[in-house]
Amino acid sequence: MQPELLSQLYLAALRWAHILAAMVAVGGLFYARFGLLPAMQVLDEDSREKLHEGVRKRWLPWVIGAITLLLASGLANFLLFNDAAQAWEDGTWMKQTKYHALFGVKFLLALGVFYFASGLVGRGEGTAWIRANRGKWLSVTLLMAVAIVMLSGWMRGLHVGPNRVAEEEASGVRFNVTQEGMAAGEDESNSAAPAEEAAGDGAEEKAEDASAEEPAAAEATDEAAEAAAAS
Ligand code: HEM
Repeated sequence: MQPELLSQLYLAALRWAHILAAMVAVGGLFYARFGLLPAMQVLDEDSREKLHEGVRKRWLPWVIGAITLLLASGLANFLLFNDAAQAWEDGTWMKQTKYHALFGVKFLLALGVFYFASGLVGRGEGTAWIRANRGKWLSVTLLMAVAIVMLSGWMRGLHVGPNRVAEEEASGVRFNVTQEGMAAGEDESNSAAPAEEAAGDGAEEKAEDASAEEPAAAEATDEAAEAAAAS
């Protein structure tokens, strides 16, 4: 297998692991809060406790697995991206986009989600207060998880750009971000680089100029697209 393909697969696997683990964690919280918990209210106290214990035992390994995968894939993703992005415009991109601050907030929120999710399926006395008021803490954990997903999407949009494939293709400029380039720390591959099929004479050069000014920022895509369209 080609080394290039292998590294692409490795990066894709990191992303799949992160997204799948996030789906399990957040999906489980939604189901517990809006499906299971209300449905259990019709049961008597004894049956409710038995059901809680049955669910707890079966759900615990999934929570541990999801937390492990989220931490491992998230840290690997962050370190790979950080290495590459620090080089963009001598670190100015990082400062301008406040990427590190956003990551810090996301990480703290994630620690909160991990704590409550573990407490909800745990048995320790220290976290009994969480299980004593399951509905409330499930809601709080869910809100934090939703905030994390929103923040993550925002962070990704900072360097990948919005979904404007149709617009970009129409103007002959395509946003060219490859995770492979990030891993290799190549500035150009993370820029709003013009597609090979860039339309019109001079469109390529103008788009290249734009991408050199503002690597990997969504604005660069706009400028490059406008430049290409105008020519
Ligand atoms: C409840 C916990 C978490 C949830 C629900 C979550 C969710 C997500 C989602 C939905 C994405 C976007 C994936 C994509 O489009 O490729 C993402 C990206 C990411 N996550 Fe997480 N995540 C969690 C925890 C973590 C943790 C603990 C770390 C770090 C240790 C982390 C680091 C990252 C990084 C670096 C990215 C890439 C952001 C970018 O593209 O700039 N995540 N996460």
